[in-house]
Amino acid sequence: MTTWNLAGMKSHVFICNGSSCMRKGAEDITLAIRDEIALLDLDEQIHTTRTRCNGRCKDACIVIAYPQGSWYKASNTEIAREIVRNCITQENNQHAIYNMKDGKMILNSKVASITGIDKKK
Ligand code: FES
Repeated sequence: MTTWNLAGMKSHVFICNGSSCMRKGAEDITLAIRDEIALLDLDEQIHTTRTRCNGRCKDACIVIAYPQGSWYKASNTEIAREIVRNCITQENNQHAIYNMKDGKMILNSKVASITGIDKKK
């Protein structure tokens, strides 16, 4: 069991390791993100967590960064590495499906993704 000191952390990156994302390369995405964090010496600033399904399987591999509130479609390892760099610059990544703005999730129409099923009926 590990208990990290999170003082100094600026971003928490959730990397979906659910079955749909794993079939689309989530292991490589996870390793690329963690490698980029190590290469840039950002271990104290960016914390990562592998998760189960995040409910956006059609956009696999899903990577989520907070407090930015960005949901990414990481379809290759270069995008994964770019996500790490965006966590530090706080820029909205062009591969983000959604970005949080003023407390609302805004769909990025420049990324091909489906709207999905409405939660309320
Ligand atoms: S398995 Fe990753 S969003 Fe469903």
